[in-house]
Amino acid sequence: MERLRLGVNVDHVATLRQARGTIYPDPVLAAAMSELAGADQITVHLREDRRHIQDRDVRLLRRTVQTRLNLEMAATNEMVEVAIDVKPDEVTLVPERREELTTEGGLDVAGRWADIAEATRRLTEQGIAVSLFIDPDPAQVAATCDVGATIVELHTGTWCDLPEGRERREELDRLTLAAREASEAGLMVAAGHGLHYHNVREVVAIEEITELNIGHAIVARALFHGFERAVRDMLALMAR
Ligand code: PXP
Repeated sequence: MERLRLGVNVDHVATLRQARGTIYPDPVLAAAMSELAGADQITVHLREDRRHIQDRDVRLLRRTVQTRLNLEMAATNEMVEVAIDVKPDEVTLVPERREELTTEGGLDVAGRWADIAEATRRLTEQGIAVSLFIDPDPAQVAATCDVGATIVELHTGTWCDLPEGRERREELDRLTLAAREASEAGLMVAAGHGLHYHNVREVVAIEEITELNIGHAIVARALFHGFERAVRDMLALMAR
């Protein structure tokens, strides 16, 4: 049976580490364990404020990831320089505002054409595949092709946040249509943001989507799968 490719986003392992300024838990170890479990790709977002993933993580991941390394980043000169230096297999350009909790909305490719086209050109020249994270909007799909990107990641976050009902069904229709248009235009179609164990099947059903990038739900579930063992290990150390 065919299955979609999974990129595991390990940002939130780093969030837990940064909360205390410790050296653990290490997202590099989480990446290796994800690969052992069959992940097809490791995805990290190096934010301009370095709130979770650090430069050290990206550099170590480049040396240790055995599948593909997908670096999410803003289309700024500083970040393009980092990517050209580190050479991930793929860069996903995302919009970024410092005050946001997480990535909110897709890139306005048409509105920021010059910046995005320039970043795409510089990265492609270095052999790095470029993906653009966009809302499921036909104008953004067309702009993605125009700037020369070869991959599109459709933002599923809006759909994930909507309650059951007409709006939610319409958003899923938009995702389906955008996936079809992108695929017909020759783009590789990925999707992600907000996907979890109870909503992922509806996105898996969209034929043209061949890859999902999932982070928060996997890191959250991993906590509970390991909780019992973690308490037992501590109890064992407390025996006199
Ligand atoms: N794809 C992109 C472009 C993202 O920015 C993120 C969040 O960093 C994800 C996928 C993963 O989202 P989540 O953590 O909600 O699964």
